[in-house]
Amino acid sequence: KVISINGQIIDEENAKISVFDRGFLYGDSVYEVTEVRNGKIGFLDEHLERLRNSALKMHMHLQFTAKELEEQIMKVATKLHKEGFQRCYIRLVVTRGEGEITLDPKAASKQNLIIIGKDLQENPKTWYQDGVEVIVSSTLRNPVKSMDPNIKSGNYLNNILAYNEAREAGYFDAIMLNQDGNVTECTTSNLWIVKDGVFKTPPIAAGLLKGITRENVIKILGENNIPFEETNITGSQLKEADECFLTSSTKYLVPIVKIDNQAIGGGRPGAKTLQVLEIFKKQQG
Ligand code: PDD
Repeated sequence: KVISINGQIIDEENAKISVFDRGFLYGDSVYEVTEVRNGKIGFLDEHLERLRNSALKMHMHLQFTAKELEEQIMKVATKLHKEGFQRCYIRLVVTRGEGEITLDPKAASKQNLIIIGKDLQENPKTWYQDGVEVIVSSTLRNPVKSMDPNIKSGNYLNNILAYNEAREAGYFDAIMLNQDGNVTECTTSNLWIVKDGVFKTPPIAAGLLKGITRENVIKILGENNIPFEETNITGSQLKEADECFLTSSTKYLVPIVKIDNQAIGGGRPGAKTLQVLEIFKKQQG
C-alpha cells in the first residue's frame, strides 16, 4: 500500500488520523475511488469534479486545488507503478478536519486529505463470463431530500447494511430501492437493465450517485446509436428485464444473472451487455 496524508507519503503503520477528525466522528467527509492502470489514472478530471461537487453540496469548500489533488494522486500512483503494480486502487478522502465534538461544521478549520493506493488484481473473469447474483435489499437508499445520495460522502451506513444483507444471504451485492419502490442502484455501483433492445437506467432524481462509469456507458450508447432511456424502474420491471448489469470504476460492467432467486435472461450474461463492455474496455485501452 502507498498512503499519503496531507501531502506526505507515510508508512502504513504510521498512517493515522486523529480521533477528533469529523470523518471518523460523523462520516463528515467526501471520497472518490478510481483505478490506476499502467501509471494512468482513470477519468481523473471527472472524479475531481465530482469530489468538489460532493463537498459543495455539504457546504464544504475544498481547500485543495484540482492541480494539487492531481499532483498528490500522481505521487502515490507513480510510487505504486515503480513498485511494479500494473493495476492499482486509489481512494481519495477529504474530511472536514479535526475539532471539538459538536455537529457544528465550523468546529474544524483545516481539512485532512488522505490518499490510499493499493494493488488491485484484475477482476475475476467469472464475473463477466457467468455474471453475478444479487438481492433487492430491505434497506432503502437515502432519500434525495435527506442526505443526497449524489454526495459521495463517508456516510455509507445504509449501503453497508444492504451489502451485509446480501453477503449474509450468499449474494454478490444488493439493489437498493427508494421510498417509492423504484430502483436506485447497487451499494457501490449503478444499475442498468436492457428490455426489448433498450438500455435503461434510473434517473438521478430516483436518488442515486451519478456514476462516472454510468456517464461513460451513456456516451457509448449514444455514439453507437444504441437505444437508451433514463427512466424509473419498478421492482417488478427489474425482474422482467431481458438483461441486467451494474457499473462502477473498478468493476466496469458486470452482468447480473439472478435477482432474489429469479433468473434474468435465462441466467446467462446478456449479449448486449457484453457488447457494450467490449466497447468500454477498448476505449480504456
Ligand atoms: N463506488 N453508486 C455508488 C453508491 C457508489 O459508491 C459508486 C462508486 C457508484 C459508481 O460510480 P463510478 O462509476 O463513478 O465508480 C455508484 C466506488 C467504486 C467505491 O465506493 O468503491
